[in-house]
Amino acid sequence: MTSPFRIDASLLADGKAISICTCGLSKKFPYCDGTHKLARQELPGKLYTYSEDGSTVLTVTDDPTVPPSDTQTPPAVGGQG
Ligand code: FES
Repeated sequence: MTSPFRIDASLLADGKAISICTCGLSKKFPYCDGTHKLARQELPGKLYTYSEDGSTVLTVTDDPTVPPSDTQTPPAVGGQG
């Protein structure tokens, strides 16, 4: 997931909406600081590491927690009728 989880202001005592980081890249964790925008191009089933300032992708590897079948492109639908 590369977008924050937003908690509506009406649900919070102080009336201020907050965004919770779901990407793990925020320097204000657990709050989103917008750094997730760097991860928009990430592919499913891959793990990315970034430079300290987040400006550069250092490595891209297979995510060992994702079964190989979950990283393949699904077959096309239709075309037989
Ligand atoms: S969701 Fe992680 S920085 Fe925004």
